[in-house]
Amino acid sequence: MYKKSFLSLMVMLLLATTSCSSEEPAAIEPGGTISGDAGKTLIVYFSWGGNTRTVANHIHDLVGGDIVEVETVVPYPDTYEEVTQIAPGELESDYRPELKTKVENMDEYDTLIVGTPIWGGHLTPAMKSFLAGYD
Ligand SMILES: Cc1cc2nc3c(=O)[nH]c(=O)nc-3n(C[C@H](O)[C@H](O)[C@H](O)COP(=O)(O)O)c2cc1C
Repeated sequence: MYKKSFLSLMVMLLLATTSCSSEEPAAIEPGGTISGDAGKTLIVYFSWGGNTRTVANHIHDLVGGDIVEVETVVPYPDTYEEVTQIAPGELESDYRPELKTKVENMDEYDTLIVGTPIWGGHLTPAMKSFLAGYD
């Protein structure tokens, strides 16, 4: 019950870049192995409350590669009440917060595993900012 609802509240996406030379697209198999030719892998995640960080670190333990946390220049408030007051306006205006996080060597990665909570049915503004920053 807990596990099912926990997993429904965030998304983890695996993106194989088009530069990957293999015909077989990468996929995460049960048990955590990556099938296909995953190449160099980056796990990138945003987490406000820690759930996505926990899952991202677990995936990192399973599949290896590099891992980076997306952090905003202006941190979100610590309390649930405050962040749920801010988030609807940001989602409505498609706000893209400035990020502290920058991956300089993105071109070197073949596979991205992207983790974000769901806020108001959307990707978080921080993750939208991150994804918009790369080709
Ligand atoms: C501002 C805000 C909006 C949220 N909106 C949703 C939502 O629309 N649907 C949902 O299932 N969970 C929603 N949640 C719950 C989070 O997605 C869930 O608690 C998630 O596990 C938090 O991940 P984190 O601990 O990595 O920040 C929301 C949480 C917050 C703080």
